[in-house]
Formats: sequence, structure tokens, C-alpha cells
Amino acid sequence: MKNRDNILNEAKQWIIEAGELIKNEMNKPYKIDTKRDRKDLVTEIDQKTEQFFVDQISDKYPDHKILGEEGMGEEVHSLDGTVWIIDPIDGTMNFVHQQRFFAISVGIYHNGIGEIGLIYDVMNDTMYEGIRGEGAYKNGQQLEPIDPNKTLSDALVGLNNFWAIPNRRLNEKKIHDLVRKVKGTRSYGSAALEFAYIAEGIIDAYITMRLQPWDIAAGKIIVDEVGGITTRVDGSSLDMLTGNTVICSNKAIHESLLTFIQEKD
Ligand code: IPD
Ligand code: CA
Ligand code: CA
Repeated sequence: MKNRDNILNEAKQWIIEAGELIKNEMNKPYKIDTKRDRKDLVTEIDQKTEQFFVDQISDKYPDHKILGEEGMGEEVHSLDGTVWIIDPIDGTMNFVHQQRFFAISVGIYHNGIGEIGLIYDVMNDTMYEGIRGEGAYKNGQQLEPIDPNKTLSDALVGLNNFWAIPNRRLNEKKIHDLVRKVKGTRSYGSAALEFAYIAEGIIDAYITMRLQPWDIAAGKIIVDEVGGITTRVDGSSLDMLTGNTVICSNKAIHESLLTFIQEKD
């Protein structure tokens, strides 16, 4: 990708500014709506933040495409060229109820290849970044490769409790067995942060049955850079244009999780 360093620096600057925007706006009254159902929230701050990115990117890079959760960008049907995949607030439920544990997630892809992944934990002022071939960083400090020897029974696994009740994507008994097998489970309410925590080595895996491109675009790039693997639960590659099931971890746990999920009930 041409000008990758410039794009990286601008993206980080815009994310910091977007974080300031969010912090300013969250102390005033703001409108909260629901999308699919009462649990799927969106606020006018999500929309304003995404619009901020769209304005900056289209001014500076009119030929780049923008796939954003709130639809302020355009309809993106292919990953040709440079595509910014943006979740302006990942963890909106946390944002509304807790005023913390949410992140801005920006993945920049060029001809389908993830070049730059940025996840910014706004309230902790913590920036995770992954640059293809150049490593992953937390606040500028390079992250170590994740432990390749960690096994499933020793793993702390990010898991949304929703998959442990009857659902149409997976037999929930699998998740019950998984909870028994692993060392512990955690549910952070922000997919982007779960990826960041895997890269940091403070959790060891994340498994979920439905995420959108903006939830995973940045996280995958960051985790790749510390030797992690992210695929769908059948082992196939993620598609940054549609919904995906997701398993993310080191290679050993990834293999165990694939086998575990695919074993006959
Ligand atoms: C959600 C969060 C959550 C995950 C949901 C996502 P949003 O994103 O990442 O952790 O379980 O599937 O939709 O709606 O807060 O941007
Ligand atoms: Ca999200
Ligand atoms: Ca969001």
C-alpha cells in the first residue's frame, strides 16, 4: 500500500480526535436508539464519530472506500483498492451503561489484505496497533508474540454468554462443555477489546458465533502480528464483507477449538 506510514499516522491522529469528541459528547444528553432489538443500541455519538472519520478520510483520500457500522460511509461491495473498516464505538452497551470498556476500531485493508489495525480504548487512553509485517504495539511498546504452548485447558476464553443459551447457530451444550474444560471465561462486551487483550496476552482465546467486519477488521491484523490465528469456526477465512463466526487464539488452542466445536454432539 502506498503511503502506509502517512496513513497510519493520520489514522492514529483522527482516532485520538474522535476519542476527544466522544469524551466531550458523552457528558451532555444524547439520543439512544435501538437497531435489531432492544439489546442492540446505537447513539447519536456513534453516528457523529463515524461521520467524523468519513469527513476526514474522504477529504484526504477521496479514492479510499469506507465501510462503517453506522452506514455513514458508502455501500462497499468489494475489497479492491483501499478500504477503511470502522466501528466508531465498539461496545455501545458498555458506553451507555458504564461509560467505559468501549473502543474505536479501525482496520485498513488494501486489495483485501489487512495493512493497519488500530483499536483505541478511549477511557483508558490506550492505543493498540498492528502493522502488517512490522509487529503489534500497545501505546508504542511492541507486544511479545503470544505464548504458543498455552493449551485450551489452561486458557482464559472470551465468550459472550448469549451462546450458552439455546440459539440457532450452535448447540449450546458445546459451550457448556467448553466452560467446563477451559480455565476460565470472560465477557468484556467489546469484540475489539477482546482481540486487543489476546494480542496483549491477558486472555488466550475468543469465540463467538456472529460478528460483523467492523468488529474484527482491526483486531485480526493486530493478533496476526503476535502470531495468533483468526478464522471462522469451521476453519475457513474471515470475509470482511459479511457476518462471520470467529475463533481467535494461538495455533494450538485454535486447533483444539476447531475440533471441539466440530465434534459430533
Ligand atoms: C458489539 C460488541 C459485542 C459483541 C457484539 C457486537 P457494538 O458491537 O462488540 O462485544 O458481542 O456482537 O455487535 O454493537 O457495541 O458495536
Ligand atoms: Ca461492534
Ligand atoms: Ca459499534
